[in-house]
Amino acid sequence: KKTQVAIIGAGPSGLLLGLLLNKQGIDNVVLERVTGDYVLGRIRAGVLEQGFAKLVREAGAAHNMDTKGEVHDAVEFAFNDTRIEIELTKLTGESVIVYGQVDITRDMMEERAKQGLETIYEASNVQPHDVKSDNPYITYEKDGEQFKLECDYIAGCDGFHGVSRQTIPDDVKTEYEKVYPFGWLGLMSDTKPINPHLIYAKTDRGFALASMRSQTRSRYYIQVPVTDKIEDWSDEKFWEEFKKRMPESARDKLITGPSIEKSIVPTRSFICEPLQYGNMFLVGDAGHIVPPTGAKGLNLAASDVATLYKIFTRVYKEGDKKCIEQYSPIALRRIWNGVRFSWWLTDLLHNFDDTKDEFDKKMETSEIEYFLKSEAGRKIIAEQYVGLPYEDLK
Ligand code: FAD
Ligand code: DHB
Repeated sequence: KKTQVAIIGAGPSGLLLGLLLNKQGIDNVVLERVTGDYVLGRIRAGVLEQGFAKLVREAGAAHNMDTKGEVHDAVEFAFNDTRIEIELTKLTGESVIVYGQVDITRDMMEERAKQGLETIYEASNVQPHDVKSDNPYITYEKDGEQFKLECDYIAGCDGFHGVSRQTIPDDVKTEYEKVYPFGWLGLMSDTKPINPHLIYAKTDRGFALASMRSQTRSRYYIQVPVTDKIEDWSDEKFWEEFKKRMPESARDKLITGPSIEKSIVPTRSFICEPLQYGNMFLVGDAGHIVPPTGAKGLNLAASDVATLYKIFTRVYKEGDKKCIEQYSPIALRRIWNGVRFSWWLTDLLHNFDDTKDEFDKKMETSEIEYFLKSEAGRKIIAEQYVGLPYEDLK
């Protein structure tokens, strides 16, 4: 079997890239290790930048996002009981869309099926070969049979634990990593959200985030030690702790209910350089991870897709193969910015217990005062929260 672009991974990166390439008549096949239902069982992100939304519209999968997603023109930060609103639209002219990763993934999956595009679920032992040559190929197994997929290019959209990054030899790549000593415990419930806007709360008890999926579904998070197990956290215990971390003026608006999902995720910053090796490209979590503070993970995956989409369009429409070298530098410039923003917000809003000394803590307070109390400071946060512009090819 042969295709033009072989895509490994049917997460948001792989599905978005595949739909966009098809718009340009570029043939592609998606290989996914697990089932579609399993992919849709992973809750994850909820805030989309306009750049992402535009790509989903171009891909033809935006109907639900544009009718059911909520446009947010502001976001709140709370420092114990002091609440500060960042007026995103007033400060930047832009807004974000609150719409779940599960929903956007389902929409793209359905669009792919509607267009009759090939996605091979439950493909095991996926392995790229000869990626430095002009004839790369992928081998995989499905239902006990061995298959070979020949292609021009491979898009590694297979997440942090995928096979694509492992294919790049150690002496070619450099990996940068910072692991934080806490995780995020997330709970989803079919209850009205505590506040019209998201609240990112820094408290003496640790960080908390009040987010949502709709006016009837809340998504809440609290910082927990990375060693905590999900069994340690009954719903009751979660609600009790979450409420204590919300600013006092919001607490009586909290409506609790049974969890429909509850999980703990570790937090880290991770970047692999470069993101291209021969005719293979790393896209999204396969090449980089950010801690969830600031909601940049999924949005950085989208800007990678945008860059690779422009590159493949030029390769196939104009025959310019040289432009593929632009992928890694262009993608990495925006990634490092997102990495810096997520790291900074994580550092500012979480409780680092004993790892920060008294001086560090004073600096933290001073930074909060400076950035949140001046309009210039709020604007710096706002323009990164709504997302920096995408860079064009040269
Ligand atoms: P993924 O979504 O990881 O998709 C990769 C796909 O590749 C998966 O379907 C996987 O099964 C498949 N795959 C893996 N290995 C192979 C293989 N060998 N062969 C074939 N297929 C393979 N971001 C936010 O902005 N906010 C959040 O709250 C947030 N929470 C998160 C919670 C968790 C637990 C994780 C892991 C991430 C979270 N993120 C969050 C980040 C965001 O979800 C990711 O940035 C986003 O999922 C990246 O999409 P992706 O398509 O690049 O990778
Ligand atoms: C969500 C997750 C985030 O990491 C974030 O910064 C905002 C919202 C969410 O899951 O809704």
